[in-house]
Amino acid sequence: MESRQFRVHLHISSPGKTFMSTAASPTYPALLSVVQYPHPVLRKHADEVTVFDDALRDFCERMFLCMEQAKGIGLAAPQVAVSKRIFITDHARREEGQSDRRVWINPRIVNAEGTSAYEEGCLSFPGMYARVERCDRFTIIYHDVYGAENRLSLDVGAGDFLGVVVQHELDHLDGKVFVDHLTDAQLTLIRKRLREMEKDYKKATGKPGAILRR
Ligand code: NI
Repeated sequence: MESRQFRVHLHISSPGKTFMSTAASPTYPALLSVVQYPHPVLRKHADEVTVFDDALRDFCERMFLCMEQAKGIGLAAPQVAVSKRIFITDHARREEGQSDRRVWINPRIVNAEGTSAYEEGCLSFPGMYARVERCDRFTIIYHDVYGAENRLSLDVGAGDFLGVVVQHELDHLDGKVFVDHLTDAQLTLIRKRLREMEKDYKKATGKPGAILRR
């Protein structure tokens, strides 16, 4: 996820920046780079993680490098073309030298209540921002990189902006993206940019990709 609140301006259009792994793994690619709309991996329901090994931890570490380079505050594995139920966050104010790196594996939300709306952006939809309604209070249950189960209660209304980030990233694991939440009026404002991205994808791959049907 990208947030203007953090004065993050994304220039992901500099292609070729990838993050190489030293550990060969059949599950996680050696090179990571952020995929953009309309790449079909963004529409897949991601698989549960069942093996908590060094390859997983190495992959998460490289996801942080990828996210930091893109100046994101959240990144889901499908956004680097790995259809696994993993996302990472670091919503602390980096310009002030703070960091709050967290890894969330096989996450699920329980006891959701209320709604809150915040402006969101996404590394897979560069330059597009819109207000999205999310749950206000909930508990998230997830595994860490060693397979231990954790739970955290978040209250967006009380200032837990991390609560917005995790809901945005969890959507990615279910093949959902933030533009799915937009009203027709909100969509109209970014439609032109979406069309351009569809054209670019077709030009690069010869395929239409997973185009938004609204
Ligand atoms: Ni996103």
